[in-house]
Amino acid sequence: MALQEPRIERRMKAMLRVHLVVIFTLIVYCLYAGFQRGDTSLAARLSQLTSWRNSGALKVQRATLQAQCANVRAAAGPPASFNPSSRLRDSNDHWVPGTPPTLIRNAKIWTGAGNGTEIVSGDVLLDRGLVVGVGSISARVLQAVRKNSRRDGSKAELRVVDVGGKWVTPGLVDLHSHIGVYSAPELNGAQDGNSRKAPIQPWLRSIDGLNTHDDSYELAISGGVTTAQILPGSANNIGGQAFVIKLRETAERSATAKVIEPPYLPSNSSGYRPWRHMKHACGENINNVYSQVRMDAIWNFRQAYDQARKVRDAQDAFCVRVEAGDWESLKVNENAYEEFPENLQWESLVDVLRGRVKLSAVDFDGIVRLSNEFKFPVASFHHGGEAYLITDLLKKTYGGAPALALFASNFRKKREAYRGSEFAPAILAENGVPVVMKSDHPVLNSRYLIFEAQQAHYHGLSPELALSSVTSVSAKAAGLDHRVGSIAEGYDADVVIWDSHPLNLGATPVQVYIDGIEQLKDPFVLNKPEEFQKVPEVPDFSKERADTVKYSGLPPLTGWKDEKKQAGRVKVVGVKSLVAYEESTGAQDDTPSFALKTLFDDKHSSSGRTVIIEGGRIVCIEGTASSCTISVRVGETIDLQGGSIAPALTTYGSPLGLVEIRQEASTNDGSVPDPLTGSVPSIVRGTGDGVIRAVDGLSFGGRSTLLAYKDGVTTAITAPSGGGFQRGLATAFDTGAPHSAVDGAVLQEETALHIAINFQISTSVSTQVAALRSLLFAGGDEEDASAWGRVRAGKIPLVVAVQSADIIATLLSLKADYEEATGRTLKLTFSGATEAHLLASEIAEAGVSVILTSPRPYPGSWEQRRIVHGPPLSQESTVTTLVKAGVNVGIGVIDEASGRNTRFDVAWTALEANGTISKSEAIALASTNLHKALGYSPQKTPDLVLYRGGDLFGFESKVVGIVSAQRGVEEF
Ligand SMILES: *[C@@H]1O[C@H](CO)[C@@H](O)[C@H](O)[C@H]1NC(C)=O
Ligand SMILES: *[C@@H]1O[C@H](CO)[C@@H](O)[C@H](O)[C@H]1NC(C)=O
Ligand SMILES: *[C@@H]1O[C@H](CO)[C@@H](O)[C@H](O)[C@H]1NC(C)=O
Repeated sequence: MALQEPRIERRMKAMLRVHLVVIFTLIVYCLYAGFQRGDTSLAARLSQLTSWRNSGALKVQRATLQAQCANVRAAAGPPASFNPSSRLRDSNDHWVPGTPPTLIRNAKIWTGAGNGTEIVSGDVLLDRGLVVGVGSISARVLQAVRKNSRRDGSKAELRVVDVGGKWVTPGLVDLHSHIGVYSAPELNGAQDGNSRKAPIQPWLRSIDGLNTHDDSYELAISGGVTTAQILPGSANNIGGQAFVIKLRETAERSATAKVIEPPYLPSNSSGYRPWRHMKHACGENINNVYSQVRMDAIWNFRQAYDQARKVRDAQDAFCVRVEAGDWESLKVNENAYEEFPENLQWESLVDVLRGRVKLSAVDFDGIVRLSNEFKFPVASFHHGGEAYLITDLLKKTYGGAPALALFASNFRKKREAYRGSEFAPAILAENGVPVVMKSDHPVLNSRYLIFEAQQAHYHGLSPELALSSVTSVSAKAAGLDHRVGSIAEGYDADVVIWDSHPLNLGATPVQVYIDGIEQLKDPFVLNKPEEFQKVPEVPDFSKERADTVKYSGLPPLTGWKDEKKQAGRVKVVGVKSLVAYEESTGAQDDTPSFALKTLFDDKHSSSGRTVIIEGGRIVCIEGTASSCTISVRVGETIDLQGGSIAPALTTYGSPLGLVEIRQEASTNDGSVPDPLTGSVPSIVRGTGDGVIRAVDGLSFGGRSTLLAYKDGVTTAITAPSGGGFQRGLATAFDTGAPHSAVDGAVLQEETALHIAINFQISTSVSTQVAALRSLLFAGGDEEDASAWGRVRAGKIPLVVAVQSADIIATLLSLKADYEEATGRTLKLTFSGATEAHLLASEIAEAGVSVILTSPRPYPGSWEQRRIVHGPPLSQESTVTTLVKAGVNVGIGVIDEASGRNTRFDVAWTALEANGTISKSEAIALASTNLHKALGYSPQKTPDLVLYRGGDLFGFESKVVGIVSAQRGVEEF
């Protein structure tokens, strides 16, 4: 009851004062009157007085009880003044007076209307925190806006921004975010997203844990996200109430000021009742925290709802009596009625039962049953890895099918996400389920929420629904579609101007407005290819979608195809661009080396050229002098329809090949023992150096591995997993191979020696550096074949996973010391390296390679907080800063599920480089540069990939085959 106390106390005190004055006056009057009349029966008089006083108090109580009962009946939702078309709102309640009105001219406006189909060419006018005009705006409206601003005395002049035909959308609404409750950088003092006290805690509120200082706000806004639902974490079945906030900084700087519509709190009986929000979670997260199973979870819910139901029923029964005016029966004594039944612990669940909460939930069948047992609606289901398989069940949710909030491709980390599919959004939409794409920030960086919508679109969700999934549909699921998520008169002035059509890869805001306030100061604007101004024409994946449903989310994946061996001649037609390898032989030995070369890039030719491949090698190209002629008859023809041929990519950075389901130990190789922070069993050390080899733990045929293969990422380089200092020797393998015993599966058994030096390891950084120093200076001759011996002799690289610029500086000086002392060269590579840009020229000078495992950095920890933000916040990106300094740069991933998306990372990096990195240089980031940095020397010509419908630099192409020097052409 704590919340109500101040209010009640104040009211009681006020009432008491009034009563005292009244009683005193009456007593004086009565004494006077009695005295006048000579009435001696004072006692009788006083008793009459008491009853008058009581009846006054009862009257007040009756009014309160009637209001409380009216409150019980009231529905949640926006008041009439929020009806945008009625234009009753003359300003946004978050409007900051003095904000200049803004006219965005010459825009292509995706408004969100008509289920995302409406596109208006023209202008958008923002004033008083509202959209006040869309399309062609009359001089009269402009005049009124100018007059308004003079009347305010703010003297803010109308700003006119001509966007030259650029796309404008509503600000993005992230339905599932933990911004501000999980911190960036992550600090224990600001991890306020999860209470671990009990599985059921509907009384907790994310607003009470929201931190206003967090690096993520600026990043998310720079990606066009303006609104986010801040959910508690999922350590509880009911982790608490959620709050929907605008991400911008407010003058008040408080958490409360960020909340869009501060929801109804008990005892506010007046008027408008905004929607409330709450999260229910099921599954592995909670079950692990509380050692429970799914059966426990549903019982937890049922028990909680039973409590809430009792409170609600007591209220309803009570109110029947109040509404009937049955006051006599409600009296507890002469001066008081029974109290309105309330319970602050359960009141939020009572509101769920009354349909006044937008509920976010997971675990379908259980929650659908629960919603019908207790009769409450659900606004959205989240994560929903398997939702696309049970669309009919979703429709059985009490009150109708909720929206489904999903990731695009972040799957398989847990058993319950193993059947997750990139085709889920399209399949759900086909079945009439509203689709929301979400970040679960910081699980995915909310800044790139639009990338989730882009991937959903690439895999078959219509452009209208893909954009709606992060604007109007998410706004609706949050109960805020009357003011955000669309561009229309009367809506909040939250809009984004994009540098390209937002469904194109790398689409970046050039400006973002929240409540009409410009968010990006001096944004850096990228120059995008002209064809990126329209919706990308995505490939046809209908067969893949059908198979996904047919096989319950696990359609068979094939790697190498023995049965379709194509070592003979293959004619590939319709090729618009070709990047291939040039092979040369090293001067000292016969090790071949491979460099990338763009052989042609006929962007504007209509049909594309013909390329003949024989024995897995390109033997002739139409339009170039070559020893063969393309007219020769060949067995097989593959039409790439204006597609391209480019080198296959390499993935590095995740434990691909060593894990299948990260959270399932029985599916993984496990963690290696660390000689610095733990002990390595003597049986492992034996007489050797005890350095673990990743190749010994490899598993082939995993889903993430085969999906990488299918998407043209045919090489993986993986180091042993572990949380300590020494990881071991990495290995290079073919992602399509069936097992390690087949020829060509393992491409190079041992590549480089991998260690980590960082603040997370359970001994000091200085101790880690000391260990490295003593390992380097341990002596040994050129012939020492141990892992460290080869590092010392400069035969294999030492790859150090490191983030902090300060540790990087220490390692550079250690390298210099070592080389000076021994006269040898230490091959060194930094991996992770978020802060490497601060030492770009020193790193280049030292000849050290850098692999950015997050090419678009995120300040996830203290030692990686100094990021290069990238456009629109900075001109340079980490990659361009390092490349310009002359560093050999590679890019990688952290999650094994992202390996398959390497082509998107390559393309995105090139787009962010704004023309300063060529296509072949971009491909090198995930192939030749990476190989060099990691000590991988291919012994045969690496694979090429056939892309149909476009090249790998956008969303229009699809991988349709692999060209292998060993196996010929494999068509998918
Ligand atoms: C939008 O889609 C819904 C559901 O399919 C449909 O009921 C509604 O009529 C559509 N509205 C418009 C304006 O097309
Ligand atoms: C109570 O309702 C009024 C609207 O009638 C609103 O202005 C006020 O903020 C609400 N108070 C609380 C505590 O929600
Ligand atoms: C990109 O290049 C264009 C010129 O081609 C330039 O005007 C613009 O400022 C550049 N943007 C960034 C972020 O480098």
